[in-house]
Amino acid sequence: MRTQVGIVGAGPAGLMLSHLLHLHGIESVVLECRSREYVEQRVRAGVLEQGSVDLLHRTGLADRLLREGMRHEGIELRFDGESHRVPMTELTGRAITVYGQQEVVKDLIAARLAAGGSVLFEADAVRLDGLDSDSPVIHFRRDGRDEELHCDFVAGCDGFHGVSRGAVPDGVLRTYERTYPFAWLGVLAAAPPAVDELVYANHERGFALYSLRSPEISRLYLQVDPDEEIAAWPDERIWAELRTRLETVPGWSLNEGPVLEKSITPMRSFVVEPMQWQRLFLAGDAVHIVPPTGAKGMNLALADVALLGDAFAAWYGQQRADLLENYSTTALRRVWRAQHFSWWMTSMLHRLEKDDPYETKLQAATLRYAVSSPAYATSLAENYVGLPEV
Ligand code: APR
Ligand code: PHB
Repeated sequence: MRTQVGIVGAGPAGLMLSHLLHLHGIESVVLECRSREYVEQRVRAGVLEQGSVDLLHRTGLADRLLREGMRHEGIELRFDGESHRVPMTELTGRAITVYGQQEVVKDLIAARLAAGGSVLFEADAVRLDGLDSDSPVIHFRRDGRDEELHCDFVAGCDGFHGVSRGAVPDGVLRTYERTYPFAWLGVLAAAPPAVDELVYANHERGFALYSLRSPEISRLYLQVDPDEEIAAWPDERIWAELRTRLETVPGWSLNEGPVLEKSITPMRSFVVEPMQWQRLFLAGDAVHIVPPTGAKGMNLALADVALLGDAFAAWYGQQRADLLENYSTTALRRVWRAQHFSWWMTSMLHRLEKDDPYETKLQAATLRYAVSSPAYATSLAENYVGLPEV
């Protein structure tokens, strides 16, 4: 099998890259180790920055997003028994849209297949070869058989646990990382959200987040210990803890309903540099992870491949190599801005150490500043809605 750009991974990064290349008249094949059903049902993040929404519009993918996506113009910060709104749109002129990552994935798969694109599910990339030649090969397994995809370039969009990053020789990549002493327990519940906007709560028992997916579905998160087992969290315990951490404002209560899905996700910050080696270009979670507090993961993945799409277009259309050569440097500017913002939001909102009263006081001072100083609130807001240029 042969194509121009071989793409490993059908998450937002790989699928959007394939779609962008198609719009530029460049061929690609996407290899995805999971089934179509699996990637379309996997519950993940749900906040699109303005720039991501604009990208979906520009590339003809916004029909359902326009109908079902929910535009939010502010968020709430809840701490010390008070709730304060950060009016993001008033401060920045921009907004976010709540739309599940798997909905973006469904729309992208539908668009690729409708355009005759090749997305091979249950095709497991096992090895990349010839990355330092002009005809790299992706070895993959499908239906119990070994197959090869020959291409001009490989795009490694296969997430944190993928194979692509590992294909770079030792000593080339540098890793920067931080782990946090906590994880997030995420819950999807059939309960009408009790909020119009997302609520980020700092509580002495730990962080909680109230988000949503639709007028009928709530999405909630709790900070838990990193080694916590989901079996230790029966639904009643989850609701009790959510009530304790979120019902801190007089007269406010959350809506409960059947839990549809629950899981625990570790928190980490992670970047490898550079995001390219020879003919391998890495994008999305394959090269950087942020803790979800800043809602940046999917947006960074889309921003990476927007650059990569233009860079391949310049290569194939105008025989220009400069955008491909600059891809890593350009992408890393946004990556590091988001790294800082996600780390900052995480540090401000979570219980970091079991007993550190000094830390708690600093958090309260930071939160108070964020809700009282228009300058500081604007900094939060412009990062949250996404900076157009970094
Ligand atoms: N062969 C083929 N596919 C693979 C392989 C492999 N060896 N390894 C992993 N994959 C697939 C995974 O099954 C997954 O569908 O690569 C895809 C990577 O997709 P994502 O994990 O969604 O990563 P990305 O597209 O970079 O999007 C980042 O996902 O984890 C969230 O918070 C994160 O929102 C962010 C987004
Ligand atoms: C979500 O709705 O899944 C969500 C919202 C905001 C975040 C993280 C996740 O910061």
